Formats: sequence, C-alpha cells, structure tokens
Amino acid sequence: MQTLEQPTTLSQTRLNLTRRPRRLRQSPAVRGLVRETQLTTADFIQPLFITDNPEPTAIESMPGISRLPIKDLLHECETLASLGIQAVVLFPHLDPSLKDAAGSQALNPDSLFIQAIRAVKQAVPELLLIADMALDPYTSHGHDGILNDTGTEVLNDVSATIMAKMAVLLAQNGCDWVAPSDMMDGRVGAIREALDAHDLTQTGILAYSAKYASAYYGPFRDAVGSAQAAGTHLLSKDSYQMDPANRREALVEACLDEEEGADVLMVKPAGAYLDIIREVREHTALPVAAYQVSGEYAQIHAAAQLGWLNLERCREESLLAIKRAGADMILSYFAKDMALALR
Ligand code: PBG
Repeated sequence: MQTLEQPTTLSQTRLNLTRRPRRLRQSPAVRGLVRETQLTTADFIQPLFITDNPEPTAIESMPGISRLPIKDLLHECETLASLGIQAVVLFPHLDPSLKDAAGSQALNPDSLFIQAIRAVKQAVPELLLIADMALDPYTSHGHDGILNDTGTEVLNDVSATIMAKMAVLLAQNGCDWVAPSDMMDGRVGAIREALDAHDLTQTGILAYSAKYASAYYGPFRDAVGSAQAAGTHLLSKDSYQMDPANRREALVEACLDEEEGADVLMVKPAGAYLDIIREVREHTALPVAAYQVSGEYAQIHAAAQLGWLNLERCREESLLAIKRAGADMILSYFAKDMALALR
C-alpha cells in the first residue's frame, strides 16, 4: 500500500485498497442487507414468578419484575401473548412455612404452582407453558435436591426420582415443557421414562444441560426465596452445578441430555458463556436455548440507573450476542420489553 500522489485535501488521500469492508457499513440500507443476526419477538421466553401473596411483590434486585398472584399472572400471560411472546417459564415462590428438608410441596397436586399452571393453560392455551423444575424453591436448605442424613451431600438418585414424579404432575396439569434445572445425573432419562409411562409423550423436555455454579443467580435467589432459606446468596451448589472454568464438560452434559431424550439443550448463564453456547450449537442438531439470568439483567439495570450505560442499547446488544453465539431461543427477563421495542 502506498499513497499514490501528494494529496491536496484530507479527503483526497488515497490508499490503494481493493478490499474496503466499510463499503458495506456506509448506510442504514446496506447495513440492513448485510446484517447477520436479527432479534425477533419469537426468540424470547419470559420467566415469571408466582406468589401466594394477594398482591404483586416487587423484587428489589430485579427492577420491573414482580412475583405475581394468579390473577395478575393470567393478565400478564394474556398481555405477553398479545405482544407475540410465544412461551413463558414459571417459577414458584413459597412461603417459608411450607418448606421442609424433603421439599415435599414439590409433589403436592394442589400447590399454588400447580393451580397457576392449570389457570394459565386454561386462560391462554396457545402460550407454550414451561415449568422450571428443581427442589430449591421447596427445600428449607435451598438446595436443588434432597440431602443425606448428615446434611453433607446432595443425593442424586432420589432427587432425580422426585424430578420424574414432579414432571408427570406438571404435565398432567397442563404444562407443555418441563425444564429440569437441578443438574442431577440421569434426571432427563428418568423424566422421559416417567412421562412416557403416563402417556405424556408430547410433553417436551427443555434441559438445563450446561448450568454453571454461577454468582449471577443472586437476584433470582431473592425472587424465589431460596437465598433467604439458606441465609446467604453464596449457597454453594458446586457439587452439582458446573465449574465455570470448564468447557469440554459442557459437551459431556449436553451429549448425555440428548441421549437421555432432551428436546432442547440449554446453556446458563448466557452472557459470560457465549463460547459454551457456540460449542453446544456446533455439537448438536437439537435446538439450543440460552438463559440470560437474573444477575445479567440486574447489572444492566444497575448501571443504567447510575447513568453509566444505556439500558435499551445494552439490553439489545447483550441479547444479540447470545443469538449470534448460536442460541435459537432466549430466556430473558427482558422478553416483554423486547417485544414492546420490536413492535
Ligand atoms: C433453580 C434455578 C436457578 C435459576 C433458575 N432455576 C437458581 C439456582 O440454581 O440457584 C437461576 C435463574 C436466574 O438467575 O435468573 N434450580
């Protein structure tokens, strides 16, 4: 490359370039034509929290998100459906008095959660209804499984067996997909077998396949009250959730869930694990989901409240990155806001 002749003005300075990538960035029209990734409302799944409190209760660390009583939940689901959101994932919040070491409310056929599922399916049948499944909202210790007698170990097989029973209960009451988020070994297979044994062959499994032991779940633990039960945000789930340092292990988990019958494989959290989303995308033909978790949502809001980041632009950029990494669907607390923005 050389300058061809002495320039007389700045804009006459010329390099001898054949390739000029900026040609394809020079106007909104060209940028629109070459854009590789577009967000659409159909990409999003809205997480919703349910409470037995008669009024919605705001979650301090998740601006704009509240735990909803059933009547408000129905209204919210109708609104989401009318905005073009096609799926919601429900999480229960239990009064601490209902929790015990065995998480026995998880199998109560008349629990608030089951009532909510029935009500949503009846009121908005076209909305794909997903239920998160793990024992942590139900256990007094806040773990996703049952503990051994000395409280030192989260027991795998008994916890996975409870998951399978829970899946049947949820599906019989109107849930379209179950989403096991507990990371017990073999739970996807146990769930598939139990569903099929009950003729629930059309119920899907959205498996939290690569779920990391992440500090980004802090605000969620406030939302479902599992932090409060354990007395700390820092409840260690390291013996079942994945080590953030590991990449290959995500493929081991994803392959197992696929073999065991999962319909969709999920990576969680999303923003700090874009390499994992890409890795799973390249190793499976199944759809891949990613969960932009509570802490990712909270940090964008917090910085925006301080005036340090632009909320709308960071929201969109964070979601675009997740889709670009390979996610076919995104669970995000921003789902409704994005549906509004994309109208
Ligand atoms: C519980 C569960 C968690 C999340 C979804 N399901 C938290 C945890 O494992 O402690 C996190 C979601 C979020 O942070 O938004 N099994």
